[in-house]
Amino acid sequence: MATIERDVVIIGAGASGLTAATELRKAGLSVAVLEARNRVGGRLWTDIIEGAMLEIGGQWVSPDQDALKSTLAELGLETYPRHRTGDNVYIKAAGEVSRFQGEIFPVSATTEHELVSLIDKLDALVAEIDPDRPWAHPRAAELDEISFSRWLETQTDDREAHDNISMFIAGAMLTKPAHAFSALQALLMAASAGSFSNLVDADYILDERVVGGLQQVPLLLAERLGDDVHLGRPVRTLRWNDAGVGAVTDELQVHARRAILAVPPVLISRISFEPALPRRQQQLHQHLSMGFVIKVHAVYETPFWRADGLSGTAFSPYELVHEAYDNTNFDDERGTLVGFVADEEADAVFALSAEERRLRILTSLARYYGPRALEPVVYYESDWGSEEWTRGAYAASFDMGGLARYGAELRSPVGPISFSCSDIAGKGYQHVDGAIRVGRETAAAIIAAERPAAPAG
Ligand code: FDA
Repeated sequence: MATIERDVVIIGAGASGLTAATELRKAGLSVAVLEARNRVGGRLWTDIIEGAMLEIGGQWVSPDQDALKSTLAELGLETYPRHRTGDNVYIKAAGEVSRFQGEIFPVSATTEHELVSLIDKLDALVAEIDPDRPWAHPRAAELDEISFSRWLETQTDDREAHDNISMFIAGAMLTKPAHAFSALQALLMAASAGSFSNLVDADYILDERVVGGLQQVPLLLAERLGDDVHLGRPVRTLRWNDAGVGAVTDELQVHARRAILAVPPVLISRISFEPALPRRQQQLHQHLSMGFVIKVHAVYETPFWRADGLSGTAFSPYELVHEAYDNTNFDDERGTLVGFVADEEADAVFALSAEERRLRILTSLARYYGPRALEPVVYYESDWGSEEWTRGAYAASFDMGGLARYGAELRSPVGPISFSCSDIAGKGYQHVDGAIRVGRETAAAIIAAERPAAPAG
């Protein structure tokens, strides 16, 4: 077993771990990044599938994501806007298809009134929530013991308004059914994006993409770190005491003064800790679980929907594909649609054969865009639920009551071990922006602790 010595060992070469490693190196500390997979990027993964460049994981950048934006600028990466010219499509419960522009779906005047009033209520509540400390809200415990679905029922009798608001947080963000997470967790999701209005505004939240794909962020960060990034090295054991850590993989171990665990919280228990993590952390990590969504790409010879006057943006809480967008790559003649199938709908289609699933999903796309959607030249379903080193998508959230009970300790270090991941972020939670933000904060805290105190006077 080869052994190397470093100041800090970072476990996980996703956006968060690589950001932390980069900052530590800039401050003159030596690092080793141990990554389980044979690639860097974790949930950022750009691949060529049957000749089409597809972003299998995260891809969009929104205007408030200043941590991600500053990294993009530092790395010299260009962005381009999502195509959004034309009409959006909405499908009602009875299957009626309508076109619309703007943010509010074409619903009856009563439902529209309910939607606007719910958005206003949520914006007002979200304004009271600090995304970095949602548990500190005076009503945190109360809001964490009611499911988001039930909370919505206490606010409106209008089913369509309920289903639409629910979709924005449940299917579209936490990718769990709205009965499976609390109102407080929903408010954190919205607060992390600045407001509930931001979250429901596709033009805001899904604003831009990176030319060449967002995985370039971790790829370029790793390139700069060079030989300090070790691929195919899952950390199996982490030995620790006040003096330092030993991170043990199958063929390499790293001795360091400190460790950063930059892995999704659901994977922390895959590592044997010697001694065990404190009771509080062992409990906390069990109350976080991954959501689940299938990201489907369908590539066509042309973006045919544009000629029909459609933007490509489509929503329906009643469709298998609850949201879909024009995802055509920069400077690409072919047209690409991306659609999402979330939580229980995803479970249901994964019970079908691959052919049946494809047909069901394309049929849903065809209801938005017409029969030409049935015949893509490339079709690809991302399945993060089957990835051993991720186990779901997009990210982790607390079960009922977990956020108020454990949230305050999410980012607290344990001895020489710090935690860093988008799933424990406040601002930018569940997004690359949050991964970078926590990576920077974790590195800054370690740099401050490692730096000798300035002489008095
Ligand atoms: P991440 O999970 O990326 O990295 C953790 C790393 O740790 C992985 O590389 C893993 O292999 C490694 N690891 C785990 N256990 C290990 C062990 N024991 N030893 C060594 N290594 C280990 N965000 C966004 O901003 N815009 C978007 O459009 C989207 N869309 C989106 C779509 C889909 C389908 C997904 C799955 C996700 C998104 N996201 C997103 C979310 C975004 O991709 C995500 O929040 C960040 O990439 C997470 O980065 P982290 O570094 O925190 O974790």
